[in-house]
Amino acid sequence: MHVLIPAAGSGSRMRAGKNKLLIELEGESLIYWTLKSVFSSSLVSWVGIIGQPNDKNELLNSIKGFSSKVQWINGGETRQESVFHGLNSLPSDAKKILIHDGARCLIEPSLINKCAQELEGNEAVVLATKVTDTIKIVDDKGYIQETPNRKNLWAAQTPQGFLVERLRKAHLMAIEKNWIVTDDASLFEILNWQVKIIEGNSSNIKITTPLDLKIAKLFLKDF
Ligand code: CTP
Ligand code: MG
Repeated sequence: MHVLIPAAGSGSRMRAGKNKLLIELEGESLIYWTLKSVFSSSLVSWVGIIGQPNDKNELLNSIKGFSSKVQWINGGETRQESVFHGLNSLPSDAKKILIHDGARCLIEPSLINKCAQELEGNEAVVLATKVTDTIKIVDDKGYIQETPNRKNLWAAQTPQGFLVERLRKAHLMAIEKNWIVTDDASLFEILNWQVKIIEGNSSNIKITTPLDLKIAKLFLKDF
């Protein structure tokens, strides 16, 4: 299985003054922990890491021995652009792809395997968890408009897996039509292409704020 790791963000919500994936937890960078888990999956055969040219040396140094096993790809201004660059840099034998955010460093290898396996029978898969909060849809003035039924609500995570040709086509259409999305599955949804949900777990958080770092530290101790 081929895997792309978007790692080209700036981490503005973390306010660390640098790419949050370079922050260290338990003595290693966040991106190191992500790659450690990805390379622990026996189904993974190729990994591309998508980063900003400015971060290249620091990111590759921080992943230590994994640096010789990854393909470096220059990222874009948005996650969407970064993934598109990644898709254009895949080896030609890549028919299926898992995309996993560098910022989800607590992913369990067994869940990566589960996504890869489910991609055998589906054109697109997304790891997700059932939402436990009651979610409100709120208007721009701050008033509640609607409360969707919680039984239909899932929080999308990564990995997200796709047939490469389909995802490439979806990204090309997005550029043409100016669709702006925050994950790849959204493009399939706009196109009315089926995406299968795979139930994951809520420890697979995306490290976004300083609080997430504290939570991740607790989980890493269990690894
Ligand atoms: N990402 C990327 N290219 C970008 C922006 C984001 O590859 N131009 C990656 C990030 O490195 C991260 C993932 O996409 O692994 C999810 O993005 P997010 O959590 O939003 O990270 P940042 O964009 O770095 O954080 P922020 O939005 O707070 O600035
Ligand atoms: Mg972002």
